[in-house]
Amino acid sequence: MRNIVVLISGKGSNLKAILEAQRDHHWDAQITRVFCNRPNAPGIEIAETFGVPVTVLNQQDFINRDAYDQCLLSQIQLEQPDLVVLAGYMRLLSHEFVDYYAGKLINIHPSLLPSFPGLNTHQAALTSGVKWHGATVHFVTRELDVGPIVAQGVVPVHNYDNLDTLSDRVQAIEHIIYPKAIEWFLKDQIFLQDGIVSVIPPQSQFFS
Ligand code: GRF
Repeated sequence: MRNIVVLISGKGSNLKAILEAQRDHHWDAQITRVFCNRPNAPGIEIAETFGVPVTVLNQQDFINRDAYDQCLLSQIQLEQPDLVVLAGYMRLLSHEFVDYYAGKLINIHPSLLPSFPGLNTHQAALTSGVKWHGATVHFVTRELDVGPIVAQGVVPVHNYDNLDTLSDRVQAIEHIIYPKAIEWFLKDQIFLQDGIVSVIPPQSQFFS
C-alpha cells in the first residue's frame, strides 16, 4: 500500500476527484493526510467528508517562509509519502522541499504548458485568442510550471466563452487527467529519469 499526501489551498475539486478515484478504482494506495495553508479553504471539508485527516499550517503563524517550509517538510515526512500531490496549492515550495521529493512531486496547472505559466491562465487564454486551452499534469522542479510533462487535457475555447465557462471546462478535464496520472504513477507507468518523463501508457493526451 502506497502513501499519498495532497496539498491544497482552496476549493478542493481536484482533491475530491482524486479521493473518488481512489475509492472507486480501488487504488493500492491511501491518501494519508491533506495539508492546507489556508484555514478557511473549502477543500478541508471535502477531505473530512472522506475521513482523511487534515493538517492546516497557517502561513501567518510562522515568522518567515523558511520556518514554514521546514515545518511543512517535517510534517509531511511523518507520512512517509510515495507521492506528494499539489492540487491547487497556491504557495511556492522551497528548493529544499522540491529537491527532497524530486520524482515524487506532481502538480496540475490550468493551461497547456508551456503556454501561460503562472496565475490567471484562463484570462490569458481568452485575451490571447487561442482556440485550444486546457490543463497539464507535470512533475515539479525548482522552476515554476516548467517541470516535465506527464499528461495534458485539451478543451476548445469558444467565441462565447467567459472566465466562468472556460474555467469550468478546464476543471472538468482536470478531474479526469489528474486521477489518471496518479494511477499511472501508482502502477509505475510513469517515472522521472534524468529529468525526462517516461510514460508507458499509450495515450497521455485527453480531449473534452
Ligand atoms: C486548479 O484549476 C488547478 O489547475 C490549479 O488550481 C486549481 C485548483 O482547483 N493549480 P481546486 O481547488 O482543485 O478546485
